[in-house]
Amino acid sequence: MPRLFTGLEIPATLVESLSMLRGGLPGARWIDPENYHLTLRFIGDVDGSLAGEIASLLGRVRRSGFELRLDGLSSFGGRKPRAVVASVTPSQSVLELQAEHERLMQRVGLEPEGRKFTPHVTLARLRDASSWDVAEYLSARAAFRSSPFPISRFVLFSSRASVGGGPYVVEAAYPLAA
Ligand code: 2AM
Repeated sequence: MPRLFTGLEIPATLVESLSMLRGGLPGARWIDPENYHLTLRFIGDVDGSLAGEIASLLGRVRRSGFELRLDGLSSFGGRKPRAVVASVTPSQSVLELQAEHERLMQRVGLEPEGRKFTPHVTLARLRDASSWDVAEYLSARAAFRSSPFPISRFVLFSSRASVGGGPYVVEAAYPLAA
């Protein structure tokens, strides 16, 4: 059973600048740069026939490409931080694309995603990291921003590991109009 999710790839130049942010935080398990991505809709473990149905339904999405930018670093998990992420400006285009994926996944019978969509790129997962260390890491890098970068397709990813962190494989890619 493949574990699937839809998402966006991160351009190589940005991967390089994000990879410079690795290190300097005890308790962090840094994501391999080749696995950086932005999750749009987590699907989970599905059987082959549903996977095929999802892959073909996604092919009916008709949308234009857009630009995104990273607007800073933050952590998820509050006082028990569990991830360091680069936050992505939630522009209308990315919100609409995500909302369409959500509608399609409900159409094939998946449960609605209960969590609010917060576009981000996970940089590290944290185990027993102190919130003090995380705050210090973030404040030392508070100036981090990216230039706008183009998004010209979305993809269906699969992941083999159940622990998160990859490796992620692009199972299908869907162009967004120029
Ligand atoms: P994360 O980066 O915020 O951890 C593949 O596992 C991707 O799907 C990851 O980017 C992860 O988001 C997200 N993901 C993993 N498990 C999930 C779940 N149960 N619900 C929603 N998203 C999940």
